[in-house]
Amino acid sequence: MMNPLLLLLPLVAGPDFGYHHTKSLETFLKEVHQNHASITHLYSIGKSVQGRNLWVLALGRFPTHHKIGIPEFKYVANINGDETVGQELLLHLIDFLVTSYQHDPVITRLINSTRIHILPSMNPDEFETEEVPSCRSFRGRFNHNGVDLNRNFPDAFVCSNATIQPETQAVMNWINNGMFVLSANLHGGAVVASYPFDSGNSVTVTANGFSNTLDNDVFVYLARTYSDNHATMYKGHSCSQEINFPDGITNGYHWYPVEGGMQDYNYIWGQCFEITLELSCCKYPPANELPSFWNDNKMALIEYIKQVHLGVKGRVLDRNGKPISGAIVEVKGKDHRFPYRTKETGEYYLLLLPGVYELNVKVPHSGSLLRTLRVPDGTENFSALKYDLRFPNVSASTEPVASCPETALYSEDYSTSATLKPSIHGLLFISTFYITFR
Ligand SMILES: *[C@@H]1O[C@H](CO)[C@@H](O)[C@H](O)[C@H]1NC(C)=O
Ligand SMILES: *[C@@H]1O[C@H](CO)[C@@H](O)[C@H](O)[C@H]1NC(C)=O
Ligand SMILES: *[C@@H]1O[C@H](CO)[C@@H](O)[C@H](O)[C@H]1NC(C)=O
Ligand SMILES: *[C@@H]1O[C@H](CO)[C@@H](O)[C@H](O)[C@H]1NC(C)=O
Ligand SMILES: [Zn+2]
Repeated sequence: MMNPLLLLLPLVAGPDFGYHHTKSLETFLKEVHQNHASITHLYSIGKSVQGRNLWVLALGRFPTHHKIGIPEFKYVANINGDETVGQELLLHLIDFLVTSYQHDPVITRLINSTRIHILPSMNPDEFETEEVPSCRSFRGRFNHNGVDLNRNFPDAFVCSNATIQPETQAVMNWINNGMFVLSANLHGGAVVASYPFDSGNSVTVTANGFSNTLDNDVFVYLARTYSDNHATMYKGHSCSQEINFPDGITNGYHWYPVEGGMQDYNYIWGQCFEITLELSCCKYPPANELPSFWNDNKMALIEYIKQVHLGVKGRVLDRNGKPISGAIVEVKGKDHRFPYRTKETGEYYLLLLPGVYELNVKVPHSGSLLRTLRVPDGTENFSALKYDLRFPNVSASTEPVASCPETALYSEDYSTSATLKPSIHGLLFISTFYITFR
């Protein structure tokens, strides 16, 4: 229990290490915003089935709006309402960030150079009724309509007729209207950093059962960044005897295939790199274990945000210096089915490991430019390499929207494809435990 006197001093006290259901979550976020108004912005992206706000706290030097050159980052927790540790970690992260600003030079630079959005609970309804911690018993995984939100997003490989839930739609709108570069979603039930794809077909699945993106090098690095900075995740000890995760990471599909997951949606449709963080063996552990979860994850949560400054960023401009929207920005060798497209500000952000790349920028119906760039590691400088391109021709273009059947982006070429090989590893694991994590 916290000393009651400290409750009068929110600037110093921080959140207590207990679980925050809707009322105390809202109180906490509002107090943080009041006490740190210059670097925070509190907004709701929509409502749950039962009408609870899906609150996001944004932190940054310009918290209320996007600034050209400042990348947007997000953390999302509690998409499965029974996986409760992530939300509490994010509240402690918020507290740590706001109280370190102007005191800790690294955190100050991080907040000055990044806009960080935190959605502590994407699925508040069912968690609300569950006061008593229990490792794996209650149905809070689903939303109030009984739908698993991490199976409810449009899938690029498999067309589903699932009804998009209000929580899912709110997050889809948030992703599509924003300009997020990097993200993670926080889960429980295992300890591992899992990267896309979660879904796949013969185009993406390798002989040994990985469903790889074209950015596999970056995703493995991102997952390793989290596991290496976590107190124990990198050791790869898992929660059961049946499976271990080398280096504390896994390809999502290789673990077990998931259709309609949020991380694939972010990557394919949102031009945002997202990984899935499984942070506790017990999905809803006793509150007195929360301080040690925070200690184990604190450094990893911070180091992961810094990775938003990997790679190259800049603007695509016309001859008068006006931004061009709808320009396609790609790196040769990573030809995405749904490539990076600039929005109204003409900005692009490409997460790349250090190296030499050929940047290929196309303005539909107006031509293309090719540039060779040496990309350094910008994370310690809190800035990706800045590189603007001037284009003599302008043309607007419309962005594709995720919907069936256009979502079948990765259509299989049956003349060349081998039969799809599901991961034996994953199937074994599922059949042994009958429990779901991501
Ligand atoms: C961060 O931004 C604030 C406000 O503009 C400024 O006073 C401060 O010097 C900056 N600090 C760093 C480390 O960039
Ligand atoms: C989706 O709905 C269409 C038309 O209602 C139907 O033809 C199709 O089989 C359904 N697909 C799935 C995967 O249920
Ligand atoms: C500009 O557009 C014209 C045709 O519309 C094309 O011939 C020309 O190559 C383009 N220039 C560049 C640099 O893309
Ligand atoms: C970091 O910033 C310094 C000072 O602007 C610059 O000299 C250096 O090249 C930068 N390093 C990287 C890796 O971008
Ligand atoms: Zn989960």
